[in-house]
Amino acid sequence: MAMALPRIGLAGLAVMGQNLALNVAEKGFPISVYNRTAAKVDETVARAAAEGDLPLFGHYTPQEFVLSIARPRSVVLLVKAGAPVDQTIAALAPFLEPGDAIIDGGNEWYENTERRAAEAAARGVLYLGMGVSGGEEGARRGPSLMPGGSLQAYDNARDILAKVAAQVDDGPCVTFVGPGGAGNFVKMVHNGIEYGDMQLIAEAYDVLRAVGGLSNRELAAVFADWNRGELESFLVEITADIFLVGDDDGEAGGELVDKVLDKTGMKGTGKWTVQQAAELAVAAPTIAASLDCRFISGLKEEREAAAAALERAGIGGAAQAAPAVDKQQLIDDVRQALYASKICSYAQGMNLLKAKSEEKGWGLDLGELARIWKGGCIIRARFLDRIKRAYQRNPRLANLVVDPDFAAEMANRQAAWRRVVALAVTAGITTPGMAASLAYFDTYRRARLPANLVQAQRDLFGAHTYERVDRPGAFHTEWTKLARRRAAAAPLN
Ligand code: 6PG
Repeated sequence: MAMALPRIGLAGLAVMGQNLALNVAEKGFPISVYNRTAAKVDETVARAAAEGDLPLFGHYTPQEFVLSIARPRSVVLLVKAGAPVDQTIAALAPFLEPGDAIIDGGNEWYENTERRAAEAAARGVLYLGMGVSGGEEGARRGPSLMPGGSLQAYDNARDILAKVAAQVDDGPCVTFVGPGGAGNFVKMVHNGIEYGDMQLIAEAYDVLRAVGGLSNRELAAVFADWNRGELESFLVEITADIFLVGDDDGEAGGELVDKVLDKTGMKGTGKWTVQQAAELAVAAPTIAASLDCRFISGLKEEREAAAAALERAGIGGAAQAAPAVDKQQLIDDVRQALYASKICSYAQGMNLLKAKSEEKGWGLDLGELARIWKGGCIIRARFLDRIKRAYQRNPRLANLVVDPDFAAEMANRQAAWRRVVALAVTAGITTPGMAASLAYFDTYRRARLPANLVQAQRDLFGAHTYERVDRPGAFHTEWTKLARRRAAAAPLN
């Protein structure tokens, strides 16, 4: 081990931490690792040996760990967000020195990062909140990295992060996102978009299965086919795989997907995304719909009871009223509906990032964020390159759907999109994400909305005033009095 001291260390050796540490070592950067329970240290060291004698060194106390790293140190934390991060920092802090940097790679709430960065700064320690996406496999082979906070901390570790990240045609999937908690915020929105994508894919599956009658094998073929075109993405690819897996334990065989309980779990980042959207007055209905569906999915017993109660009341099971459809046409329509819905969902996520960036002065570069999502992360997809180019063409783009390229795509797909949503509504199949995207699109593109009536109502009962289309100013009207007077003069019936 007579080599230079590692410049980087990693604390928190659950699978993500182990994999990221092995990835760093494999890229030729010696790394020190530490975990509170010694067994995890041993496990990681053993893996490093087994996976090619990688330069990874295990340590069993915070002091030994920190001191094993050359200054200025880069110390990556991969522990559960929240209190465990504070505890880990507290354990390491006594040994960190001015100029060292803490890099929190968890799915942390951005304000926690800002608080910790301020605490670290008081001791001269630098801080990065770094979104890491790609799951276990991504961490090992190349994740998408979203570091934000101290630029100096980023510069110290820049060469390492660039090698560790996923590589795409236009560079490594890492960039300095912005100051403060920007990195965590960007990762949070990534996850909100991830929720939306997963929901939209599930709806496509639902329509094809319940209305189109596709078998799991046919679904596998359809998704694999989609993955060769405009929908090419990690989530579409893994979806195709899921349909192929048989249920080994099942008595009647069949596919495992049909045996999985229809209850979606969550850890919180999608909820934060919707909360932030509300805080910033940014409409994010597709992402919100995906969150709502997770909530409702959790009410399994209630849904079963509701299905029975409403069936007794005469409302048949889902898809009962489904009209006969041409299978090929349906598959093609659903593909287009999925794509158009996805664009609207990304538009919402991007607008949330833009709004937060303006509020906090983060200077987020939306095109660059789309670029670092092209590889490594869960939402990686071919069409992110198009999003990147849209924001490069016009960094002030108001909404993705009005970018000339995307506008043309929406125009080409809207008929199919409407057919799918209408079909689902008729059949009693829920497509909340696709419907929310379509409603978002239709609301956004209308120059005049019925909001005039809501304003009139507000002014009537609350004297909240309204503006006029034909002259400036704030107006208030005695609506009730004037209406009575009119009605008296000319009765309605
Ligand atoms: C990623 C993922 C990951 C996230 C899971 C769980 O980018 O690798 O976003 O960070 O933790 O997807 O999210 P939920 O449990 O909330 O679905």
